[in-house]
Amino acid sequence: MSVIFYLSIGILSIILLVLFDYVNNFQFYKDGDKLPGPKAYPIIGNAHFFLGMDVIAAHEKLLEIAEEYASPFRGWLGNQLFIIIHEPDQMKTILTSPKSMGKASLYRLLRPWLGNALLLAPVPMWRVHRKLIQPAFSLQILRKFVHIFDKHSKSMVKKMEEELDGGEFEVRSYLVPFSLNVALEASMGLSETFDPKMYAEFGVCVDRVFELIMQRGFRPWLHPDKIFNLTKMSNDFYRSIKGMHRISHTIIAKKKNEFEKHGEVKKDKIKNQREGFLELLLDLQDKQKFSDQQICDEVNFMVMAAYDTVSVGLQFALLMLAHHPDVQEKVYQELKHIYGDVIPENVLITIDDLREMRYTERMIQESMRLFPPVAFVLRKVEEDLDVGGYTMPKGCTAFCSIAKIHRDEKYWPDPLKFDPDRFLPEEVAKRNPYCYLPFSGGPRNCIGSLHAIMEMKTALARILLKFIIRKKHIEPIKNIRQKAEIISHPLKPIKIEIVRRLPKT
Ligand code: HEM
Repeated sequence: MSVIFYLSIGILSIILLVLFDYVNNFQFYKDGDKLPGPKAYPIIGNAHFFLGMDVIAAHEKLLEIAEEYASPFRGWLGNQLFIIIHEPDQMKTILTSPKSMGKASLYRLLRPWLGNALLLAPVPMWRVHRKLIQPAFSLQILRKFVHIFDKHSKSMVKKMEEELDGGEFEVRSYLVPFSLNVALEASMGLSETFDPKMYAEFGVCVDRVFELIMQRGFRPWLHPDKIFNLTKMSNDFYRSIKGMHRISHTIIAKKKNEFEKHGEVKKDKIKNQREGFLELLLDLQDKQKFSDQQICDEVNFMVMAAYDTVSVGLQFALLMLAHHPDVQEKVYQELKHIYGDVIPENVLITIDDLREMRYTERMIQESMRLFPPVAFVLRKVEEDLDVGGYTMPKGCTAFCSIAKIHRDEKYWPDPLKFDPDRFLPEEVAKRNPYCYLPFSGGPRNCIGSLHAIMEMKTALARILLKFIIRKKHIEPIKNIRQKAEIISHPLKPIKIEIVRRLPKT
């Protein structure tokens, strides 16, 4: 009897709360429902679509729905309104309008990990910080990083030699330490390599947190912290975050130690020689522009942003090279043109060489079109915004589907064909630039895009100068799936085989 009584009270309270919310936000619900979209039900909205699905299936379901509805269309997760955008001009409006410059409330789920890092910072703080941080990404600084990209590419290739003629192996196990080493030396200014156990721990924590955040994201009833904190998932979530924070504290402590050990004179000398990201942050802290906590937040984000995206981009690029020997040969011919027939070990890759690797760059761009390391970005609409003939009401979330737009045959004829020449300058000139957004667009785009492209070119050049990449079983592109996470890792580990490249006589 008492159970039924409490249950009835519970249900009644939920109904009253929903009614209260509906009356209070009547205009929001009315405007939201003017947009086309699948039938939504009270309380759950469209959440039933995703019930019982893992996040990969849920994201694929979303892309399937996007085939049915023109952009923009709406979906409700509980009382949260998502407006899905997959049309270039609309994408431009969202990514450039001051009305949608803020990050979606859903990114709040990342806050225990990343605090107010650039990615999540409220707009006024983001404006100030982005301007302060920008100098660490200038061409002048990047020029100094090329030897770091090259040094770690060479040592990765050396380690890969163990796999020569040994059948297929997982590329991730080489690419993750490579990109993490580059991130630590270039962005964090740490020259020592780290204990491999640390990479393993960091990688496991990042993967777990991404997975848990997405699981929570698609389940609106887990969004309130009070409910989430009661679940088993939350223990796992906070434990993984603690693991990552421990590593970033070690990084900051090492850099501070290095500065202190060398005293003021040496500190200034290091800064003048190379002002990477963490060096710049510590300098800004001296000038009272960044607090301890803000430095931790930025380091937490930057290490992840710099290594995981690049590693995912490279994994897919190597897979595409293995699938397309003709493209691989063209990349090699380009390298041969730069370095001649025999490439001595001690020849360094320079920024001018990277500029000449135009076909290699097109290959990377095409690979990121088909497999964008970041498949979607979210923005919070902070004032009513007109998009595609509809009003996106204040308070909704814009879901910009990069994955959908990258494979839309309206903009990419024969979209599943791997063709680097889509990125020939004359082809690019014909397209709306908002058709291709691996680094997002507008003022909140990726600050590290040039860094990423240069790093990827260097790594691929070193690999292809030494090895021919192969794969026994070629899977159709439509069967190669990505996880639906903040960074879209391959669903199945990417495996390739390598044989030594012998200069042709
Ligand atoms: C292939 C590699 C990479 C890809 C695909 C990528 C993609 C992206 C995307 C899509 C965003 C925008 C997110 C949004 O609009 O909400 C972003 C932001 C950002 N990325 Fe990257 N990224 C890559 C590499 C890097 C690297 C190497 C760094 C640093 C060295 C970096 C640092 C950042 C930072 C700091 C932001 C936040 C910018 C802001 O909010 O102002 N990224 N990245």
